Amino acid sequence: MTEHPYLDTSHISNIAPDRGPSKYFHGRTQILRDFNDFLRLAMEEKTGTIFLIQGAPGAGKTALLYECKKFAEKREWEIAEIDPPALWNLDELLYYLGKEDKVQFTGGSGEIGINAGVKAGVKLNVETNQTRPTILKTLQDGKKPLLLILDEAQSLGIKDIVPSDQKRIINSVLNNIHNGRLRRSVILLAAGLEPSKSAFDDLGISRFRAGCFVELGALGKKAERAVIHDWLMKKGCAKGDPIEWIDAIVQKTHGWPQHITVYGDAAAKQIQKDQGVMTPEGLEIVYQTGRERRKAYYKQRVVGIEGNELICLYEAIAGIEPGTPFGQDLILAPLDKKYGYERAEEIFKKFIGKGLLSPVDTLYSVPIPSMHDWMKSELKRTHERLRQAKVVQNADAHCKSIDPDPEDRNTLKQPTQSKESDIPPKDRGSKFDMER
Ligand SMILES: Nc1ncnc2c1ncn2[C@@H]1O[C@H](COP(=O)(O)OP(=O)(O)OP(=O)(O)O)[C@@H](O)[C@H]1O
Ligand SMILES: [Mg+2]
Repeated sequence: MTEHPYLDTSHISNIAPDRGPSKYFHGRTQILRDFNDFLRLAMEEKTGTIFLIQGAPGAGKTALLYECKKFAEKREWEIAEIDPPALWNLDELLYYLGKEDKVQFTGGSGEIGINAGVKAGVKLNVETNQTRPTILKTLQDGKKPLLLILDEAQSLGIKDIVPSDQKRIINSVLNNIHNGRLRRSVILLAAGLEPSKSAFDDLGISRFRAGCFVELGALGKKAERAVIHDWLMKKGCAKGDPIEWIDAIVQKTHGWPQHITVYGDAAAKQIQKDQGVMTPEGLEIVYQTGRERRKAYYKQRVVGIEGNELICLYEAIAGIEPGTPFGQDLILAPLDKKYGYERAEEIFKKFIGKGLLSPVDTLYSVPIPSMHDWMKSELKRTHERLRQAKVVQNADAHCKSIDPDPEDRNTLKQPTQSKESDIPPKDRGSKFDMER
């Protein structure tokens, strides 16, 4: 089906539920089964571990955490959704464990925020408390098994996030959980972008138990179709057989949860507008909306990466078929040539951290074929813009040589200057912006 870039999509809001818990969750059955099994084992053996889910932005990590949490709720675990400092700071841990009721809060809550109030209160309690427990003691102290949930775990890898005098504490806390040595069932369920595993590595956790480290990729075909089916039928209240629309939408979503959600949401809204009828025109509008949202998502991913670094990446993958893996050198070699090896390695890691590249066994790939295509088109667009800038520059130089009249030159220069503010030719070496 051809795509029309001029369709009116204004009746579909740009707000789409493309982050967090899923309305129509499907798939990930093996991971959930393993996690549930481990919950059971941990209860039987009073043990615990760290369970890590790692994946690119939009792979469905947070949604999966939420599903795992439901299993723990069913088994009546105590659950705390924590931030990294709870792993080395007792006040933070007490706060996330909801133990602020131990605190005699005396401040004016109308004037200071609730969190601030609680934390101030905890501090007050601790100061007057003669037997301040340790983090390990606090984790041990409870009748029920305990599930700690840490999302965005890659932040553990941020330089100096753990204060140097607290490193020993976090090492000990993580090791005790990881090796199930707390004499209480305690699981740390973490999810994060690609560098999460190396962040744990740096904190002394080198090997995960079998089944407790998950690299999250695209959804399987069956699950993908089931999610789209739910969006069309449950949310959109479609009348009739949705198979044609499902077949059409999976061509665009590649099993990628974020894409599935934005297309599913757009499709549901369109079907609602058409009172349950799935028309070919409606599908065109879904395509158009989905394509715009997909583009916005890819643009977001490259925010914070320098234009020239991106050009290196885009040029390197330009000759590769989307979905085909390649060796690390394909990207590292041109980066090395331009920036030197040390910096090249850093940039390469950044590409992985942003989910622009993904490891495939010993090779790498651009994790979503449509993102690969988008990178190629960005490169084409960049070359086109550079060419235009060059033409303008040449025209400028030509005018200067044939027209020595300063007044004329000024009028001629006007449009050139306004173009230059779009694309600064002088700065192309370092700051060329790729219209992210
Ligand atoms: N298995 C699934 N079935 C249905 N929808 C899903 C599934 N997994 C994720 N989703 C949906 O896909 C979207 C992206 O998922 P999510 O926010 O969990 O990704 P993420 O990996 O946590 O992304 P980020 O790295 O940006 O935090 C969300 O709308 C989520 O509800
Ligand atoms: Mg998330």
